[in-house]
Amino acid sequence: MKFKIIFTLLLTALISCQSNNELVEKVEELTQKIETLETEKDNAYKPGLGMLMNAIQVHHLKLWKSGINENWELANFELHELEERFEDIERYKENSSNIKSIKMIYPQLEDLEKLVKEKNKEEFIKEYELLTATCNSCHQINDHPFIKIKVPNTDSENQVFEQ
Ligand code: HEC
Repeated sequence: MKFKIIFTLLLTALISCQSNNELVEKVEELTQKIETLETEKDNAYKPGLGMLMNAIQVHHLKLWKSGINENWELANFELHELEERFEDIERYKENSSNIKSIKMIYPQLEDLEKLVKEKNKEEFIKEYELLTATCNSCHQINDHPFIKIKVPNTDSENQVFEQ
């Protein structure tokens, strides 16, 4: 897409230039622009895995809270946020060795989506437990067994901090 724009610019420059000198100048200017864009792209902010996981933790908690309160519209929203964060991980961290088996999370999210649509609180709770177990399986597989996620209880926490 970016190159299409640059190509169009180049073409416009070619057509509008009167002399060779002007043309050389224009090409140099555009080359400079391409280089700047590439540096900007390389330096662009990419969220770390830990940061994305922290966002996931918040959505995991909110999903629970909205589900048990039968606020299905909010639960649906939180589910989609969760899904998007996992997709972000796949996009930004595709070469990372510690996201093995990430795909295992999607079936749980899809099943929960179905239950949220059906407004089935009882099954939602069971499936939520499965989702949480899947978070932990992935932590185990990826050398982070000490990150233990739990179904939130009255303390409104969804992580185990005691050893
Ligand atoms: C790809 C497998 C995978 C899945 C699925 C996964 N995690 Fe993680 N999670 C990790 C890895 C790897 C880390 C360590 C990240 C790091 O090194 O910064 C992590 C870290 C975390 C952390 C610690 C972040 C911090 O900085 O304190 C939390 C909280 C967390 N995950 C929550 C969850 C929750 C909740 C789910 C399920 C909804 C989940 N994770 C699913 C792999 C996964």
